[in-house]
Order: sequence, then structure tokens, then C-alpha cells
Amino acid sequence: MLSLSPRLMTAASMINPCRKTVDIGTDHAFLPAFLVLNSKTEKVLACDIGIQPLENARKTVNQYSLQEKIELRVSDGLKSVSPVEAQEISICGMGGTLMAQILSDAPWIKSEDIHLVLQPMTHCEDVRRFLCENGFVIDREECVADNRHLYCCISAYWKNEQSVCEEGYFYFGELLSQDGLSREFVERQYNRIKKRRDALAGSGRELEEAQRLSEVIDYYERKQNSLH
Ligand SMILES: C[S@@+](CC[C@H](N)C(=O)[O-])C[C@H]1O[C@@H](n2cnc3c(N)ncnc32)[C@H](O)[C@@H]1O
Repeated sequence: MLSLSPRLMTAASMINPCRKTVDIGTDHAFLPAFLVLNSKTEKVLACDIGIQPLENARKTVNQYSLQEKIELRVSDGLKSVSPVEAQEISICGMGGTLMAQILSDAPWIKSEDIHLVLQPMTHCEDVRRFLCENGFVIDREECVADNRHLYCCISAYWKNEQSVCEEGYFYFGELLSQDGLSREFVERQYNRIKKRRDALAGSGRELEEAQRLSEVIDYYERKQNSLH
């Protein structure tokens, strides 16, 4: 039976049971294969921008005889996907900045019928910024340890919610109020930001950036105080 890495397992656990999932940046199609083998989704459209990753995906599809359940397609983000093909959309294992761009290029995902599962490897703040500024609600976040790294995984849906977007929220999201690995992830993030802000403040350069990071630090400290 196919087993997933802890990172992809966390993403799989956030996918709602459904008829059709779209997986963007699928590479080996491990997540799509797991979803159909475990009857979490009937069919998956597994997309990648690269030919070689789709060849990797084809091997997995053939290995588990999933040709009827998983369709492979070359697509730059969601550009070659039609809205009727998606209920759940997963994007895992790429940088948060690229992920935000992919989401922004597909305005049709602003639909109450679509649920997003996003697992950025870096720059989670860019993903949360996109979501918050575009009427999405983050309903769940989890932190997972994989291969000596910590990753966050975000579940979100569109609600046309005009929320107050604070810079600090983009960096810590829903993880700030959680314990365990989330706490560790948040503390590491906070220490990194503080170090960078202090370095900038000491050098007298990039004052705007130093000010922005100070806002993030204030947000963290304010939330910490209100939690304790
Ligand atoms: C590191 S792999 C992640 C594979 C799998 N999703 C995972 O999380 O383990 C990233 C994949 O994203 C694909 N990719 C990068 N940019 C993309 C884009 N704009 N649209 C679709 N796929 C993209 C790459 O070709 C690569 O196969």
C-alpha cells in the first residue's frame, strides 16, 4: 500500500471527501494516488508544469492501476483547469510566493464550492496574505515535522469575508494559538524575524522593511500577552 510522507499525509488529512480533487504541482502523484486508494476522492486531476514530473506521476498511476481515476495534465498552475473540474484543490511542496501567484491567476477559485489545501515549503506569509486580502477564510492550520523540517499546512475556503488583515497574522496565522509543533514553528519564525529586524535597525538600512517587521513582532507579543 502507498504510504505518504508526514507532510503529504497532513495535506491528505485536510482534503474533504469529494468527487473531484485537483492537485497542482503533483510530481509523482503520490497524494492523488493516496486519495483515490483510500476512497477520499473519486477522481483526481493531477497537474504539473513539467513533463518529467508528469512522467513520474504516470509511473505511480500505472503501478497502482489508477488510469481510470487519475487524469494527468500539463498545466501552469490552474491555467488549464476549468472550474467544473474542481471541488478540492491541493497545492503542496512549492514556495509560498509561487503558490500565491498561482492562486491569484485563477480568480474562479473565489467560489464557496471550492476548498483549498495549501502546503507551502517557504514564505507561508505570502499565502496567508493572498487569502486574507481576497476574501478567503483560513479555517484550519497544522504544523508537521518531516525530514528535520517543520512545515505548515493550510485549509481555506472563499467566503468573501472582508477581514482586517494584520501583517503579523500573515506570518503566524492560526498556528499562534496552538501548542506542540505549531508553537515551535511560531517561535522559530518569531526569532528569525526579530534577528532580521534587529540587524536592519542596527545598520540603519531598509527602514520601511524594519518598520514592517517591527509590526509583526508587536503583533506576536500582543497575542502572546493575551493568551497568557
Ligand atoms: C517539489 S515538487 C512537489 C511535489 C508534491 N506536490 C509534494 O508536495 O511532494 C514541486 C512540483 O511543482 C511543480 N511546479 C512548479 N511550478 C509549477 C506551476 N506553475 N504549475 C504547476 N506545477 C508547478 C514542479 O514541476 C514540481 O514537480
